[in-house]
Amino acid sequence: MASSNAAKRIVFTGGSGKAGRHCIPYLLSKGHSVLNVDLVPLPHPRVHTLKADLTDAGQVFNALSSHFHLSHYENPRGPGGVGVERPDAVIHFAAYARNLLVPDSECFRGNVLSTYNVIEAACKLGIKKVIIASSETTYGVCFAQGDAAYHSFPLEEDYDNDPEDTYATSKLCGERCARSFARRFPGTDIYALRIGNVIEPHEYELNFPGYVSKPETRKRNAWSYIDARDLGQICDLGVQKDGLGFQVFNATNDTITTKETTAEILKRYAPNTPVTRDMGEFEAPLSNRKIREVLGFEDVHDWRKYVEV
Ligand SMILES: NC(=O)c1ccc[n+]([C@@H]2O[C@H](COP(=O)([O-])OP(=O)(O)OC[C@H]3O[C@@H](n4cnc5c(N)ncnc54)[C@H](O)[C@@H]3O)[C@@H](O)[C@H]2O)c1
Repeated sequence: MASSNAAKRIVFTGGSGKAGRHCIPYLLSKGHSVLNVDLVPLPHPRVHTLKADLTDAGQVFNALSSHFHLSHYENPRGPGGVGVERPDAVIHFAAYARNLLVPDSECFRGNVLSTYNVIEAACKLGIKKVIIASSETTYGVCFAQGDAAYHSFPLEEDYDNDPEDTYATSKLCGERCARSFARRFPGTDIYALRIGNVIEPHEYELNFPGYVSKPETRKRNAWSYIDARDLGQICDLGVQKDGLGFQVFNATNDTITTKETTAEILKRYAPNTPVTRDMGEFEAPLSNRKIREVLGFEDVHDWRKYVEV
């Protein structure tokens, strides 16, 4: 396993969305160069958006072997071809980001096909690092009908994920594609991030008072969240950490989104769900232990910095 802090060339898909518009500036702040591939532009002076539909494999292969910017026509050699200006990493966030944006069958088609296409093209073009967006919803409660129970706490990466809804199932299929290609292409790292509820800076003031006063409404998110900027940190750590092959990582901040301790909340709202290890006093039930221990994640944007409790 190796880590390097070198500047990388990163293709980021879906970068115009809620998470990407914070993750991309974080990656730029770390010295990386980024090409955004999306259906709609990202208004950022240093990032070009290549408009592409990632459910079309031809467009994906082309996008991953593209110039990052018009100015790159000044370079002596163009992109594509073995060893020439290949991206170092692809971060694939483009998706229908929940159910009910489109009919279920289109959500499945769009998410599974785009994820398959991106992973396949990256592997076949020799790009050695792929990070894909999976989801907290794969733990099976977020979009379950009625009041469903988790199997156990904390929710960690070895859980037997068994969602019943289409969006979460599409994300689990993406994880399977990742695992399959990582096996077929030894030496390629594919990390799937099970991203928690993404919170943008302006959303603390808007949303957290309700989260804190009505904890019963947050069971579907396992009383956990990820700050969009801290998600950028996780992307950067994933890009820098080489040699892990296929991995799944929960991507959440350290602490539970309640005033009460984790033990109090789990006892009150999930009294029959087993707790399988000692948990920190305020540890997020969708635990980020693995990204802390394996990637070295350090929570910068704890919600308590932005909301009075
Ligand atoms: N927002 C959350 O709370 C959350 C939680 C868990 C996981 N995720 C996952 O994280 C990722 C980013 O989420 P987000 O909230 O930023 O989503 P978003 O909907 O805000 O952005 C998604 C972006 O993907 C683009 N896109 C969609 N289909 C495309 C296609 N076929 N080709 C090219 N671009 C396409 C859209 O134009 C959009 O800009 C998604 O994969 C989502 O499923 C999000």
